[in-house]
Amino acid sequence: MTDVAFDPARFRQVLGHFATGVSVITAMDGDTPVGLAIGSFFSISLDPPLVGFCAAKSSTSWPRIRAVGAFSVNVLAEDQEDICRVFASKEPDKFSGAPWSPSAHGQPLLAGVLASIDCDLEVVHDAGDHEIVVGAVRDLRVKREGGPLIFFRGGYANLA
Ligand SMILES: Cc1cc2nc3c(=O)[nH]c(=O)nc-3n(C[C@H](O)[C@H](O)[C@H](O)COP(=O)(O)O)c2cc1C
Repeated sequence: MTDVAFDPARFRQVLGHFATGVSVITAMDGDTPVGLAIGSFFSISLDPPLVGFCAAKSSTSWPRIRAVGAFSVNVLAEDQEDICRVFASKEPDKFSGAPWSPSAHGQPLLAGVLASIDCDLEVVHDAGDHEIVVGAVRDLRVKREGGPLIFFRGGYANLA
């Protein structure tokens, strides 16, 4: 491994120059909605339809979502920075200020998102301090038109 890889500050600073959208991964853990903000969502395969994201091993929500075996990807809009901050926190009840309803497959669908993608958990790959999560798409919908929330160099931005 090179010296660069051992310098977490430089790793974050350089990788922060790669702009991402922001999504919230949600699932129903029994009667309790759980979720976390992610910037690592990616489209993988059309046939079969697969998408993915990377989950930190430090996440408290991810093990609960993994146990459910299904999740919904909520693609955040540019006016949902406040939602992102809550779901990027460790608050015990992230959904108290975030209206939601059941998605097509019964996972929490946050109000006001641009799009939602319901998945069954397909496979999980180990990757350092993260896990690479692959989901088989079961339903996908555009919920409204609008600009995306973007994360870039440690701050929020939009396309305007
Ligand atoms: C813009 C943004 C992108 C993030 N992307 C990811 C990600 O891809 N994977 C991840 O595990 N955490 C990501 N996080 C961090 C989690 O949202 C954060 O660790 C959260 O507290 C996890 O909550 P939990 O313990 O309830 O799972 C991101 C945070 C922000 C603000």
